[in-house]
Amino acid sequence: MSMRAMKQAGPWRSEADWKARAWRELEAARARTRAMLEPVPETELMRQHSPLMSPLVWDVAHMANYEEQWLLRALGAPAITDPAFDAIYDAFRHPRNTRATLPLLEPEAAWAYATRVREAVRAHLEVLPPQSADPLLADGFVFGMVAQHEQQHAETLAATLQLMTDVEYLPVEALRPQPGAVPQHEVFIPGGPVHLGSNDAWAYDNERPRHAVDVAPFLLDAHPVTTGDYLVFVESGGYEDARWWDPKGFEWLQAEGLRHPLFWLPRGQHVWLRRRFGTVEPLPKDEPVQHVSWYEADAYARWAGKRLPTEAEWEKAAQGSDGVARAYPWGNDAPTDAHANLGGARWGPSPVGSHPLGRSADGVFGLLGDVWEWTSSDFQPYAGFRAFPYREYSEVFFGTASKVLRGGAWASAPVAVRNSFRNWDFPIRRQIFAGFRCARDVR
Ligand SMILES: [Fe+2]
Repeated sequence: MSMRAMKQAGPWRSEADWKARAWRELEAARARTRAMLEPVPETELMRQHSPLMSPLVWDVAHMANYEEQWLLRALGAPAITDPAFDAIYDAFRHPRNTRATLPLLEPEAAWAYATRVREAVRAHLEVLPPQSADPLLADGFVFGMVAQHEQQHAETLAATLQLMTDVEYLPVEALRPQPGAVPQHEVFIPGGPVHLGSNDAWAYDNERPRHAVDVAPFLLDAHPVTTGDYLVFVESGGYEDARWWDPKGFEWLQAEGLRHPLFWLPRGQHVWLRRRFGTVEPLPKDEPVQHVSWYEADAYARWAGKRLPTEAEWEKAAQGSDGVARAYPWGNDAPTDAHANLGGARWGPSPVGSHPLGRSADGVFGLLGDVWEWTSSDFQPYAGFRAFPYREYSEVFFGTASKVLRGGAWASAPVAVRNSFRNWDFPIRRQIFAGFRCARDVR
């Protein structure tokens, strides 16, 4: 269903009304998750495809259960399931590699549950007051949270589909855009204050409060490091040379026997293929490299005589150095295909330069979409952080174990992507759609 058709589908026509946006985003998320899983056979939905991921059918009922907890029970609507049922779909109670052993709803029952919840949510949304003192309802915050949650799970589903090695998953033929010319250089970002974070109604707790920090002038790559760039590092022995690696990263590399990014297939002298959703294809040299861990990104940067940007530098580059407040690098217009490769339709990154309208005020390309970008920063709370509405979204992950990623990937939905959005993961993770760009001090 097109976005236009979906707009007409809800009972709320006025875009000024948060209910219209809430309903549209919930339905967009559901249309996407359904379309993604439709080609997958039932038996494969029940299976554990990787110790890193849940069985796909767990995600379906988990999304429904999360929606039931937050959009029905937390807002005073009657429960659909016995709260004891919540335990099965509690992400904190069961590590991903144990979820296949739980008494999971089978695919048909999981979708039926999701539909039942959604119908009840629609009825409850109609009777909710447009204005309320409940912070969960301020501008529809909790609806935004649930819509973003389902879209974040859609991205996780994509990562699981990519990890399935014994099933061919052939999504619709992805369009490959014509890249524009991209300057192969760095962009100078003047120093000065940057307002990190967001006070937007649908921003997460970890983006709050919006606050100013100072950033020294620096140089930032005009576009993400490409597969072709990264191949030079691989072929020049980068994975065998401890000089470039964080010691812990080099240890990990040796233990795992890694020689190149995940899903790359060496096929003899200078011949490289990659596997993408069941298809084996030539390595696309003009796309941002993806499926690299933080350690691999960090090593490349050192080899190139550079470093990863901090998350404050990244956000300064995304906002522009002219002090104008922007939700996205190009301004405040909601992302379209002209701005960035988002939403999952392409099933991979676009060649760099494919979205010239998405450039930042300072001339940095591709900050949003295509690949998540690793930064050098640990995932820590901003000063004045308050967990809302639950500690397990962000707070329990703060510390030095995870690195921050910025900008969203091709598989991220526009509703869950903005200049201030913070993602995080362990420095060894490579199944996520992550790449990077480099920065450099100005001397
Ligand atoms: Fe979740």
